[in-house]
Amino acid sequence: MTTIIELSYILAASLFIIGLKYMSAPASARRGNLIGAIGMLLAIVVTLLDRQIVSFTWIIVGMVIGSAAGWASARYVKMTAMPQMVGLLNGFGGGASALVAVAEFLKLAKNPPLPMDSSITIILGVFIGGITLTGSFMAYAKLEGLVSGSPITFPLQKPLNAILILTILALSVYLVGWTPNMLFFWIIVAISLIYGVLFVLPIGGADMPVVISLLNSFSGLAACAAGFVVENNVLIVSGSLVGAAGLILTQIMCKAMNRSLTNVLFSAFGTGDSAAGAAGSTSDKTVRSVDSEEAAMVIGYAQTVIIVPGYGMAAAQAQHAVRELTELLQGRGVEVKFAIHPVAGRMPGHMNVLLAEANVPYTLLHDMDDINPEFPHTDVVLVIGANDVVNPAARNDKSSPIYGMPILDVDKARNVIMMKRSLNPGFAGIENELFYNPKTLMYFGSAKEKVQELVAQVKKL
Ligand code: TAP
Repeated sequence: MTTIIELSYILAASLFIIGLKYMSAPASARRGNLIGAIGMLLAIVVTLLDRQIVSFTWIIVGMVIGSAAGWASARYVKMTAMPQMVGLLNGFGGGASALVAVAEFLKLAKNPPLPMDSSITIILGVFIGGITLTGSFMAYAKLEGLVSGSPITFPLQKPLNAILILTILALSVYLVGWTPNMLFFWIIVAISLIYGVLFVLPIGGADMPVVISLLNSFSGLAACAAGFVVENNVLIVSGSLVGAAGLILTQIMCKAMNRSLTNVLFSAFGTGDSAAGAAGSTSDKTVRSVDSEEAAMVIGYAQTVIIVPGYGMAAAQAQHAVRELTELLQGRGVEVKFAIHPVAGRMPGHMNVLLAEANVPYTLLHDMDDINPEFPHTDVVLVIGANDVVNPAARNDKSSPIYGMPILDVDKARNVIMMKRSLNPGFAGIENELFYNPKTLMYFGSAKEKVQELVAQVKKL
């Protein structure tokens, strides 16, 4: 039986890896998800066959409630609320691992002393799982607007955090080296939970996707620690995969913003979404603005058009109107492509998900590195609610906070139409010199209505 269980675990782990491979491209992502889910089903069924399980009642109750809640939330969550949902799921994952570690501690504490390897993994499980639980809930609250999206700081915050970590270290050394002490253990649990909140509080709301990705990695590490605690190989492997995948995604996002992880976590960068756009432009430079009729003339008679979506398209939920515009232009013989910046919007793959939801074919979507050489030969770039990801200051202005961030080179195209509501800045809170570029036409208004107006005007051409 043990051999069958272990072989099935290897098969499940292989399915996770194959699933991850498929998930690396939008076209095969659904298949990857399905393969991963089959691997997880296999792992669960095999674990339930394990002879150590004495009663199935609570397991079945938990599975029924969890499956129903998971199905309903995945079915009804809005695309724009996806980061919050992922945050919550991470939190529950971390919490579950911490609970496994707590249960194991309570069991082992009856027969002291604790084996050193078990006590180390238990403390790691409780610490990482606890931080993941409350940190993810705090990230959820920030994204949902329940807590201010602005970085929240207070005097002596960093020394307090350092004291908490040192306390956990000291108590852990005592627990590992000496006898199990219930009070010390519960203090470690409490500090871990408190630290999760304090860790996320000073981070701006718009940086939450990076934090959620990092916490996702933590939830994997907590699961991995829980795997060592209960000596379950598939939990160790799947936890490591989640841990590594979360770290890689965190790294990709930081690189695309040209910021270090330390900067994201400790610099209280950004204003939070609620405040983004609140700071008006103080520039006295002139901009050229157009109405929908003029914009339709420019775009409708072009041969090549690149659409650059950004956070504003997501905020206005303009993706369906954008698809309609795309089909209309293609019907007129215009070649239309989409340029996708890796951190456009507020979560990884934000633009891909929205455009896929509106049935824009994947083949029209191009990554930054592939499409950048095409801008100089493009008639019109239509920027829809994107700002930082097209700001040439990232290339030209050494004093800019986004200097060095890779951007979409839209200023190299022949004409640029920029659709947004005002001259207000984006997430980074900095002015965009593209507004004042002689080849830029500002097309002011909320993205959904403005694209719809554009569709109506192009139809009249
Ligand atoms: P932003 O630079 O944030 O600019 C979005 C623009 O959309 C704003 O300037 C705003 O201008 C406009 N807007 C808002 N609502 C709109 C509406 N209803 N209709 C039309 N326009 C609207 O967005 P971006 O270019 O997508 O860049 C993303 C930023 O987020 C980057 O700085 C990135 O580093 C950061 N970030 C991204 C991620 C991920 S993973 N994507 C994670 C963390 C941080 P108005 O107010 O004038 O309309």
